[in-house]
Amino acid sequence: MLERALKTIPLGSQTFSKSKTAYPEGVSPHFIKRGDGSHVWDVDDNEYIDFVNGLASITLGYNDPDVTDAVKAQLEEGTIFSLPHEIEIKVAEKIIEMVPCAEMVRFGKNGSDATAGAVRLARANTKRDHVAVCGYHGWQDWYIGSTSRNLGVPSSVRDLTHSFAYNDLDSLDQLFKKYSDQVAAVIIEPMNSTEPNNGFLEGVKVLAQKNGAILIFDETVTGFRFANGGAQEYFGVIPDLAIFGKGMANGYPVSAVTGRAEVMKLMEEVFFSFTFGGETLSLAAALTTMTKLQQEPVVKTLWEQGRKVKKGVNTLIRKHNLGNVLSITGKDCWSFLIFKDTDVYSQWELKTLFLQEVFARGVLTLGTHNMSYAHSDEDITRLLNIYNEVFELLKEIIKKKNVMDKWLKTEPLVPLFKIR
Ligand SMILES: Cc1ncc(COP(=O)(O)O)c(C=O)c1O
Repeated sequence: MLERALKTIPLGSQTFSKSKTAYPEGVSPHFIKRGDGSHVWDVDDNEYIDFVNGLASITLGYNDPDVTDAVKAQLEEGTIFSLPHEIEIKVAEKIIEMVPCAEMVRFGKNGSDATAGAVRLARANTKRDHVAVCGYHGWQDWYIGSTSRNLGVPSSVRDLTHSFAYNDLDSLDQLFKKYSDQVAAVIIEPMNSTEPNNGFLEGVKVLAQKNGAILIFDETVTGFRFANGGAQEYFGVIPDLAIFGKGMANGYPVSAVTGRAEVMKLMEEVFFSFTFGGETLSLAAALTTMTKLQQEPVVKTLWEQGRKVKKGVNTLIRKHNLGNVLSITGKDCWSFLIFKDTDVYSQWELKTLFLQEVFARGVLTLGTHNMSYAHSDEDITRLLNIYNEVFELLKEIIKKKNVMDKWLKTEPLVPLFKIR
């Protein structure tokens, strides 16, 4: 199927993270047929416990019955119209109810729509052009130009976006000094794999305020995952604007820009406008997902189940004495396996071998555990049993040295770019 796809679809995928750049060719499933709860089935009917979960967009589990029912009911009425629909107001009100910084809301389809919209809004509000970034913020020119994957982005655009380092307030301060009175926005993932140092997020807010820049939290992943009100609620640091995507609607394509009314109001003038804005199926999914988050212990479960994963992985790392090659970081609801180079093997060789072996045993992960409400204790026991076998193998290979060729049945992955 991959061969066939490659004839008509460059890369054979719409998304780098779903493509052969992330799933090593020949030892990975390349196409999924269906999902239910925490499990998915590939086109050869192999079953996997899924810890990727639609790149962290599935928070309740695949084909959640409540979400599916809400979408079916909305489908009977129609998907998009020539005027707005009441569901837009309901979801906006729900976000305002749940998210601390939210006073007004506009919707996009992907996280990238929302980050691009928020940055344009910040530029319009401040009448400044430069942007300070920390983390991953999507595919659009204004951001991706600042990474090594900047092919096709004009240098005049690239020159306006500057990265600063997480947990390094000084690196942000330097940007403010270098581009004095020119920085429109500071946009940051409040957290991904690394814990914020005490006072870091607060410090970012103080620096942004002091320098007249708008603070945007990119809560594409942390939103509706760290807490019902996102990382801003979890850490108690409230930005001017925040953007949400992924977990908003349990896998349906919708995102949001939200924040202080005073800043948001200019969305009436800023061009953030597209045909499928306000598409009702995704908004019906969003309303049901968010209501379920309020009524059931969804977030609590993501943390509890994720804690079992992290604890189990740490025990296995100790058991197999892999502490200098492997670690697990991030919050319980979104944790990351980090591989390190050894004297003979690169982290990419080790990670590729790890993926090959866990896929063969029925676990789908890209090294992260994007927890969902559907992950059962049985899933986690199975995951840890499989990791136990694969860590044993990694230990053996590391001990024997120069035997990777014998074990790895594909080429090692090549990093797309390093952000997290
Ligand atoms: C933190 C963050 N921001 C923005 C995006 C972009 O979202 P999308 O891929 O939906 O455009 C992502 C996607 O992975 C993300 O993780």
